Amino acid sequence: MSSGTGTEAFAAVDVIVRKRDGGELSDAQIDWVIDAYTRGVVAHEQMAALAMAVLLNGMTRREISRWTNAMIASGERLDFTGLRHPTADKHSTGGVGDKITLPLAPLVATFGVAVPQLSGRGLGHTGGTLDKLESIPGWRAGLSTSEMTAQLDDVGAVICAAGAGLAPADRLLYALRDVTGTVESIPLIASSIMSKKIAEGTGTLVLDVKVGTGAFMKTEDSARELARTMVDLGTDAGVHTVALLTDMSTPLGLTAGNALEVRESLEVLAGGGPPDVVELTVALAREMLAGAGLPDVDPAGALADGRAMDTWRRMITAQGGDPSAGLPVARETHTLLAPADGVLVRLDALAVGVAAWRLGAGRARKEDTVQAAAGIEIHAKPGAVVRGGEPLLTLHTDTPGRFPAALADLADAITVAPAGSQPPHRPLIIDRIV
Ligand code: URA
Repeated sequence: MSSGTGTEAFAAVDVIVRKRDGGELSDAQIDWVIDAYTRGVVAHEQMAALAMAVLLNGMTRREISRWTNAMIASGERLDFTGLRHPTADKHSTGGVGDKITLPLAPLVATFGVAVPQLSGRGLGHTGGTLDKLESIPGWRAGLSTSEMTAQLDDVGAVICAAGAGLAPADRLLYALRDVTGTVESIPLIASSIMSKKIAEGTGTLVLDVKVGTGAFMKTEDSARELARTMVDLGTDAGVHTVALLTDMSTPLGLTAGNALEVRESLEVLAGGGPPDVVELTVALAREMLAGAGLPDVDPAGALADGRAMDTWRRMITAQGGDPSAGLPVARETHTLLAPADGVLVRLDALAVGVAAWRLGAGRARKEDTVQAAAGIEIHAKPGAVVRGGEPLLTLHTDTPGRFPAALADLADAITVAPAGSQPPHRPLIIDRIV
């Protein structure tokens, strides 16, 4: 073994070699490597090599837990213990049409449980919650910690951007993983997500781990392993943590795209909306409320009677938004028709997500801007009986030159089978992991 360099406790190359050869890293090695990477002492190429060794050889539960704690310790920790309300948060691993945070945060807050929802912008085919809310005129994502705390006390729900001080080691490492083929490691994904959620200081955390073509995790086994790892990390950190495994083989609801998804969320808050969006919103709300000590309340009732909508309006107004303002509408639309009579048995989530992204709803690089009105409206979901020539999808964009690429993405996304056919049976909520 080579010795430490100067005043450093370890040499990065020794830590890399240990993991490369299938060994376990000690607590001291993990603490050091995360801290030294954040300080710039461990070089990006060394961290990239270590991330690849972790991807190939995995980590034990102890290593993952220590790695997560070291990333939390790299930055600040929010503390909401002084609030008048218990706190509960939700994290989704990301999917197409996943607008659930929008109705869910005000719904849960309606029952006196504070929801400190730190969210991100979208990258690639899954949309970002902040992008969706930014389609509301005036709404702003950036709040200071004191503004956030005041809003949690007053309104009960905040959806805002995570500050740079939260788990800065993860910020660096995630950007590095993105360009070194090391995102798809369950220990690294779990520690990345959970370091931010634990640092955020919530008392209860409900994880929505998506499975299917439109999700990070394509198979139920891998989604289950990710869910188990994250639930264990949360529980070990003293956060009441539950995960639902949910289907992402087809888009959630009837819209994918920023303003389109806000519009659909408003339908849910008004007591309507697509049944799958309502089912998942209510199921996640029940979990959050139960974790915060309210197992017997009825979230569906607060959607039906307008209480959740009242909280939504207060939440949007508190962040400068005008809840009564019209939402942006795309300059151009193009309708995709059913090719034949029959039953729609497949509408692929990934293809719809990529097509919405091509229409301008998402970004390819962090610096890109998004079109608020771009996206896809879905007129039929798997299981629907369709007639040839009737509308299946409406594509929305401000830049019609984007239609051909989006249509090419959708070319193999849809299967219409002869009358009497059934789509594969896929429950929306596949399992609950505690
Ligand atoms: N989201 C994160 O925050 N981190 C990952 O590693 C993957 C998804």
